[in-house]
Amino acid sequence: MVERLRTASSPLRRLFGFVAHRRRDMALVLAVVLVSGVAETAPIAIAKVFVEQVLIGQGEAGGDDLGVLFVKGGQALLDAVGSATEDTRIAALVLTLLLLLVVGVVGAFASYARIYLGRRLSAAVVSDLRSAFVRQIMALPLSFYGRRKTGDLISRFANDIQLTYRGVSLVLLVALPQPVVIVGAACAALWLNARLALASFLLLPVLAALAVLVGRRIRKRSAKSLASLGDSLEAMSQTLSGLRVIKAFQAEEEALGRFERVNHRWFRRQVAVGTSKATARAVLELVYAITLVGVMGLGGYLVIEGTWGLNAGTFLSFLLALATMYRPIRRLGRAYGEIQEAGSAAGRIFEVLDAPGEPQDRPSAEDIGPIREGLRFDRVSFSYEDGDDGPVDVLHEVSFDVPAGKTVALVGPSGAGKSTLADLILRFHSPRAGRILVDGVPLDTIRRESFLRQVAVVEQSPFLFNATVRENIAYGRPDVTQEDIERAARLAHIHEDILGLPDGYDTILGERGETLSGGQRQRITIARAILKGASLLLLDEATSSLDSASERAVQAALEELLKGRTALVIAHRMSTIEHADHIVVLEGGRVVEQGSPEILLKQGGLFAHLYELGQGS
Ligand SMILES: Nc1ncnc2c1ncn2[C@@H]1O[C@H](COP(=O)(O)OP(=O)(O)OP(=O)(O)O)[C@@H](O)[C@H]1O
Ligand SMILES: [Mg+2]
Repeated sequence: MVERLRTASSPLRRLFGFVAHRRRDMALVLAVVLVSGVAETAPIAIAKVFVEQVLIGQGEAGGDDLGVLFVKGGQALLDAVGSATEDTRIAALVLTLLLLLVVGVVGAFASYARIYLGRRLSAAVVSDLRSAFVRQIMALPLSFYGRRKTGDLISRFANDIQLTYRGVSLVLLVALPQPVVIVGAACAALWLNARLALASFLLLPVLAALAVLVGRRIRKRSAKSLASLGDSLEAMSQTLSGLRVIKAFQAEEEALGRFERVNHRWFRRQVAVGTSKATARAVLELVYAITLVGVMGLGGYLVIEGTWGLNAGTFLSFLLALATMYRPIRRLGRAYGEIQEAGSAAGRIFEVLDAPGEPQDRPSAEDIGPIREGLRFDRVSFSYEDGDDGPVDVLHEVSFDVPAGKTVALVGPSGAGKSTLADLILRFHSPRAGRILVDGVPLDTIRRESFLRQVAVVEQSPFLFNATVRENIAYGRPDVTQEDIERAARLAHIHEDILGLPDGYDTILGERGETLSGGQRQRITIARAILKGASLLLLDEATSSLDSASERAVQAALEELLKGRTALVIAHRMSTIEHADHIVVLEGGRVVEQGSPEILLKQGGLFAHLYELGQGS
C-alpha cells in the first residue's frame, strides 16, 4: 500500500537542511545558545571560589589564580565605591554575589531569546513544510491518490508535521544548547580534578552506544505506530463520509468494529514505542546513579586520604560540575526519544514530498488560444496500472472528432471508459498509445496551463466547496464581478433558487453542498462552467435521475451552457443525446458505432438499443 521511497540522506538531516536554510535565524539561535551555555556553566567556577575564598578563606596566599583574581577584583570594586576592606573573604563574597547576579540576569535574557528564537524558527520551518506539503498535494498526479488513502495523507499532514515541529524545537532548544553546557561542565570538571573527571566519564561511551541502539528501535517502532494512526484516521474519515449509509443500513456496530481493530493496532504499537522510550530513560537514570555512587565513593575516599590533590571544597565544586553536566545529559536523553520519533514522522512527510509530480511540460510546449478547429482522438489506448497479467486496456484505439462549435455525445454502458476518456482530455492521465489533437496540435505538446484555461468541466458528481454560493460559482475566477456571477446563475437557471437561500449568494454551502438538492447542485456547477467562459466543454452528465421539474431546469441550464461551444458530453439524458450533432458509442473501451442520432437509430445497433431503454424509463 505505502511504497517506500529510499532517499540518500536521513530525514532528520534533511529536516535540518530546512532549518539551516534560514541562515540568519539559525546564526542568532547559535549565538544565543553559546551565551546561555556560558551563563549556565559559569556558576561552577564561581561556586569554587565561593567555597575556597568565602567559606574556607584561603586568602591570597593559599588560593589559586582564580581565587586571587576574585579577591583582588573584589577589593578593587569596594575601593571604587569608597568602602575599602582588608578582609579577603568579604571582598571575594562581594564579587561572587555580583557576578552571580550578572550571570543570572544574562542567563535569563539568553533563555528568553533562546526559547523565543528557537520556537519561532521551528514554527517557520514547519509552516514551510506544511506549505510544501499542500503544494505537493496539488502537484501530484491523480494516479498517486489511487494508491494512497485520504486518511493516511491527512494524518501525515496533521500529526506527522506536528511531531516534526516538536522534534525541530527540541533540536533547537535542547539538542543544540545542551551539548554546550555539557562540554562546559566537563571542562570545568577536568579543570577541577582531571583524574577524577576522567574516572567519572567512564560510563559515558556505554550511554552513547545504548542511546544509538535504543534510538534506532524508537524510530522503527514509531514509524509503525504513525502508520497505524494514519489507518485509524482513514477509518474515521470513512465513517464520516459514509455516515448516511451506516445509519440507514444500521451498520454502526460493524463500522465501530472496523475502527476498533485499527485503533487497537495503534494502541499496541504505541505501547511498543513507550517501552523503548522508557528503556532509554531508565538506562540514563541508571548510568547517572552508578556514576554518582562511584564518584561520591571515590571522591569521599580521596578527600579522607588527601590524595590526588582533592580537598572538600574542590570536591564540592566537582560534584556541582558533574550535576551541571548530567542535567543536560538527562534533558538530552528525554528529548532524544522525541527527536527520533520526529525523524520517523519527517520521513513520512518527505515520502510524500519526494513522490514524482505531474510530468513537466516539454520546454518546447506551446500556448493555445480558444479552440478553432476542434478536438481529435487518434487511435487512443489507455490502461490503468498494469495488472498481474499485463496492462488491460480501458480504452482501445479510440478515434473520433469533436468539431469546433459542435456537441458530441459519448454514450455507452456503465464501465465503458467514458469518464476515463474525459480524464485523458484533462491530462489527469496520458494515453498509452495514440494521440489527442487539439486544433491539430498533439495535446502533450501544448502547455498544460494554457490548454486547461480553454476547458470548462462539469463533473459526474457535482462537487461544491465548503464556501459561499458566490465563491462556489466564481471558483478559480477571483476577478469576476457580482454581475458576472448573477448572469451565469441566471443562465444556469439557479439564480431564483439562490435568492431563496437564507443569505442568498452569501449562503455557506455545507461540506458537500448538503443544503442543496441534487439538481440545484448540478446547476451551480453548470453556472461555474458558464462563468469560466471556456471554448471547450467537458460534461459528464450525472447518472442519477432527477424529478421532472428539476430535470427541466437542469436541461435548460445545459442548453445555455452548450450554446456555441465545442462540447464533449458524456450523455445519459435522452434530451441531451437527441440534441447532439454526433454520437460516439463506446463499449468495453472501443468505439462500436458513431454517426448522427438519426443514422444510428436506423442502424438498430447498440445505440438504438440503449435509446429504447432510455425511452422506456
Ligand atoms: N482509477 C482507476 N483505476 C483502475 N481502474 C479504473 C479506475 N477508474 C476506472 N477504472 C476502470 O476503468 C473502466 C472504465 O471506467 P469509467 O469510469 O471510465 O467508466 P464510465 O464509462 O465512465 O462508467 P459510468 O457510466 O458508470 O460512469 C472500468 O472498468 C473501471 O473499473
Ligand atoms: Mg463515468
